[in-house]
Amino acid sequence: MKEEDSFILALPKGRVYEDFIPCLQKTRFALKDDPKKSRKMLLDTEHPEVKVLIIRGWDVPTYITSGAAHLGVVGKDILMEKEEEEFVELSDLSLGKCRLSLAGRKDVLSGSSRLRIATKYPKSSTQYMNSIGIQAEVIYLNGAQEIAPILGLSDAIIDLVDTGKTLKENGLEELKVISEISTRLIANKASIKTRSKLIHEISDALTQ
Ligand code: PRP
Repeated sequence: MKEEDSFILALPKGRVYEDFIPCLQKTRFALKDDPKKSRKMLLDTEHPEVKVLIIRGWDVPTYITSGAAHLGVVGKDILMEKEEEEFVELSDLSLGKCRLSLAGRKDVLSGSSRLRIATKYPKSSTQYMNSIGIQAEVIYLNGAQEIAPILGLSDAIIDLVDTGKTLKENGLEELKVISEISTRLIANKASIKTRSKLIHEISDALTQ
């Protein structure tokens, strides 16, 4: 089978991937090779038609919107930032559960009408801060937001919180939960019609 005829399932590297692979390996779409031992980005599965694409989570909506991949696994935090992309959210895989939260030193919110927020979620951050009547000056950071308030780069952060360990070890508190986050299955709009059989088969296998 030619690569362009394959059905492509896009998976994000990182935490979601670690959670998701054990689920995938229980299905008939299991990866043939151990992805930890390979640098390949397009991997074969036990199903001859289905290949798994390994990319960054932030790129999953782009691949799905364009149709370069048919089905994708991605965190709701990313989907909320990528609302302009055109994909269909099929289901909640109930993996990678965490929260998008505002965090900072204890009394940072009191009496403030404007705060500098370090985040990699500019859209969600601006929307949320507006909703609580505080103007946000967003400072975009690609990671390690937790250190920004300590070093005076920002007043607070908006980031994912799971166990709370990263906040605690960097002297910050979770002040407001903005949104509950989990891993979602998304599909390309056209593929829902043209590749519906495989989309349903994979979706069913993953949500059982
Ligand atoms: C995430 C998130 C926090 C941390 C929260 O980062 O951005 O920094 O996990 O987890 P905790 O509440 O259990 O401490 P991740 O390690 O995924 O790396 P990233 O900063 O590169 O996204």
